[in-house]
Amino acid sequence: MKDRLVIFDTTLRDGEQSPGASMTKEEKIRVARQLEKMRVDVIEAGFAAASPGDFEAIRAIAETIKESTVCSLARANEKDIQRAGEAIQPAAKKRIHTFIATSPIHMEKKLRMTPDQVVEQAVKAIGWARQYTDDVEFSAEDAGRSELDFLCRIFEAVIKAGATTINVPDTVGYNFPSQFAETIRQLIERVPNSDKVVWSVHCHNDLGLAVANSLSAVLAGARQVECTINGLGERAGNASLEEVVMAVRTRPDIFPVETRIETTQIVPASKLVSQITGYPVQPNKAIVGANAFAHESGIHQDGVLKHRETYEIMRAEDVGWTQNKLVLGKHSGRNAFKSRLAELGIVLESEEALNSAFARFKELADKKHEIFDEDLHALISDEAVTPAQEHYKLNYSQVCSETGEVPHSRVILSVGGQELKAESDGSGPVDATFKAIEQVVRSGSELLLYSVNAITTGTDAQGEVTVRLSKGGRVVNGQGADTDIVVASAKAYLNALNKLHSCQGKVNPQGDV
Ligand code: KIV
Ligand code: ZN
Repeated sequence: MKDRLVIFDTTLRDGEQSPGASMTKEEKIRVARQLEKMRVDVIEAGFAAASPGDFEAIRAIAETIKESTVCSLARANEKDIQRAGEAIQPAAKKRIHTFIATSPIHMEKKLRMTPDQVVEQAVKAIGWARQYTDDVEFSAEDAGRSELDFLCRIFEAVIKAGATTINVPDTVGYNFPSQFAETIRQLIERVPNSDKVVWSVHCHNDLGLAVANSLSAVLAGARQVECTINGLGERAGNASLEEVVMAVRTRPDIFPVETRIETTQIVPASKLVSQITGYPVQPNKAIVGANAFAHESGIHQDGVLKHRETYEIMRAEDVGWTQNKLVLGKHSGRNAFKSRLAELGIVLESEEALNSAFARFKELADKKHEIFDEDLHALISDEAVTPAQEHYKLNYSQVCSETGEVPHSRVILSVGGQELKAESDGSGPVDATFKAIEQVVRSGSELLLYSVNAITTGTDAQGEVTVRLSKGGRVVNGQGADTDIVVASAKAYLNALNKLHSCQGKVNPQGDV
């Protein structure tokens, strides 16, 4: 019998801390449903005290998710823990994850607390958290640069106070696999009652070692790994869920553990998160990159045709890669559309939302003829934008682009319900359109990123555009999809402007106590 490795997904919390990756409540619910379908054990749904929006999103996830444990992060103070407890309250299975920094540099420079005060605060935090749930996780932030003796001391104290999972984060991605494994081994050996808790790791990827460090920790006795889809997360990101899960599954000879992850849901989860956050997946990314199972060299192709295992250690279909299947066309009816959405795990809350999505599907099918799953995901993302989130809307766009002539764009926007027109030249049709939009909106934002990807193959594919804008220290990503990439670009730009318009301030969990 192998031990269970608990998969704790923090895409919706640490992943969302990636610049511009903030998600709306509806988007978070879609990701959470996909994580549940993938049989993730624990979903860290957010940081309840960060903002009212985060609180609402966690609560909505707690009301929706039945199979996975729903968790909220909380700093080790009473107010944060109370918010976390209230947010997860409706969940069938609930956890509070509380943390405080333990490295000398964090305690002295950030918290301005003595080690004694830190231990005292951590113990109190566990007591507050236990009022809301018996499932309490404690993290020693920056454990990767903390003193081992101090870690033993604080972990002993929080276990005594009722913590049930002890997490050892390499917050700044500084550790090295053999060293990190030794830390975990020592902690399990030295901390009294270490066998009464689950040992967990949370590794960042600053040196590209997050997955390696997490896996070495598993070999040293850790039984929970905290990770994110596509390795999303602060700075260089977190350990990537798909790599951890597939390493354990592909090498049962090495790992004495197994996960309960439904691996065929990995690629759909990766695509969903990439599409919602606007963070593209690099083509050569392990498991979920477009080339992860593509054999380019003739020798490899020949080998795979003769015997697949000559060059493949995993099967593409086991992680959810399928051929781009034609799923629907312009003659497909409302029922076919509805059941395909259900198969994709997409639930539209009302008949009205379904009717509106179906009308847009018909419009798209007129332009595109063959509709793939990826098109449906993009369409539903557009549909998830509520009127309240759509202060700026594109009503009309026209572009003149001719060889030897300066491109010119005309747009009509609805701004808070009022129709406004503008036009502008630009160095290209997209530039002209963005300038025309700016004439109306005058956002004063800075464009940090503009990228276009084809959602499927063929020249009739929809272009999916990501626009990243920054203003007053806030960074947002906007997405838009259309068969016309100028229209997709305008939609993405307006989507980002809408996010800037509606965004409320957030507290960074790793800022203070
Ligand atoms: O990286 C980190 O230390 C964290 C903690 C809050 C677990 O994200
Ligand atoms: Zn982290």
